[in-house]
Amino acid sequence: MTGTDLLAPRLPSPLQEVADHRFARHGVRLLLKRDDLIHPEVIGNKWRKLVPNLAAAHGRTILTFGGAYSNHLRATAAAGRLLGLPTVGVVRGQELADRPLNPSLTRCAADGMRLHFVDRSTYRCKSEPEALARILRAAGAEDAYIVPEGGSNTVAVRGCRALGEELRGHADVVAVACGTGGTLAGLAAGLAPDQRALGIPVLKGGFLTGETEALQEQAFGGRKGTWSLDDRFHFGGYARTAPELDAFATDFENRHGLPVERLYVAKLLHGLATLADEGAFPHGTTLAAVITGRPFPEA
Ligand SMILES: Cc1ncc(COP(=O)(O)O)c(C=O)c1O
Repeated sequence: MTGTDLLAPRLPSPLQEVADHRFARHGVRLLLKRDDLIHPEVIGNKWRKLVPNLAAAHGRTILTFGGAYSNHLRATAAAGRLLGLPTVGVVRGQELADRPLNPSLTRCAADGMRLHFVDRSTYRCKSEPEALARILRAAGAEDAYIVPEGGSNTVAVRGCRALGEELRGHADVVAVACGTGGTLAGLAAGLAPDQRALGIPVLKGGFLTGETEALQEQAFGGRKGTWSLDDRFHFGGYARTAPELDAFATDFENRHGLPVERLYVAKLLHGLATLADEGAFPHGTTLAAVITGRPFPEA
């Protein structure tokens, strides 16, 4: 089997209807777009964003960035192993270098990713050319193909357009959890004109409209599709949670047998249930929630 075969996806990803009274009582049909089933190791929007980048790398070492629990770092490491490509992960937090690796970084290392830890202020400056050059020198990876944090660059955003195209004719509203906004940027561009996309940011800050617009500008030359963000469901920021959110996610898992990834997908589904209760979706709306990931470690 070749490396490319090992990355073979299940596309289009399945679209499943779930019976959930929290939506049904408001006349809303809920569909789950199971991007978590695209590939066993390069999961969800990671597959859609990474595969075009791996092709663009033409066999060079892939270098990318992430925090200690980054889904993106794990996906990049797995893709590198499957394709036989060297990978380097630049990890936020110099202090982590002296501690035992957490399960997420352990998985990255087991998949052959070389980890390079940097202090937080260096990490913050990584998009500045001089700071990036210093990081690449220190990591011994000057010739590497660079994938940004979260994997959202122009080719990635274009790759996510297929997600929208797969949903044409199937839903009125398509909702997705957002980190960098790259998945939303591509999804919205791929939908039909009578559909709209809704992004639920999991980070606090209200900066994502501008970032998503910038990603669409770079990938498509301007704003594409009908999309908006609802900034009320981040629970205080990235990886922040609350007993209410955890209870919601566990209940959703028990009702529907869907493993609910906690950093993104739980906030999305909780946000959608709240919006349905607020009457945000007219009676008769078909709502598709994109399941962009799976819990790690898996139960
Ligand atoms: C499971 C999951 N869902 C959603 C997202 C958000 O994607 P984006 O950064 O394209 O907004 C991520 C990003 O890393 C993710 O890991």
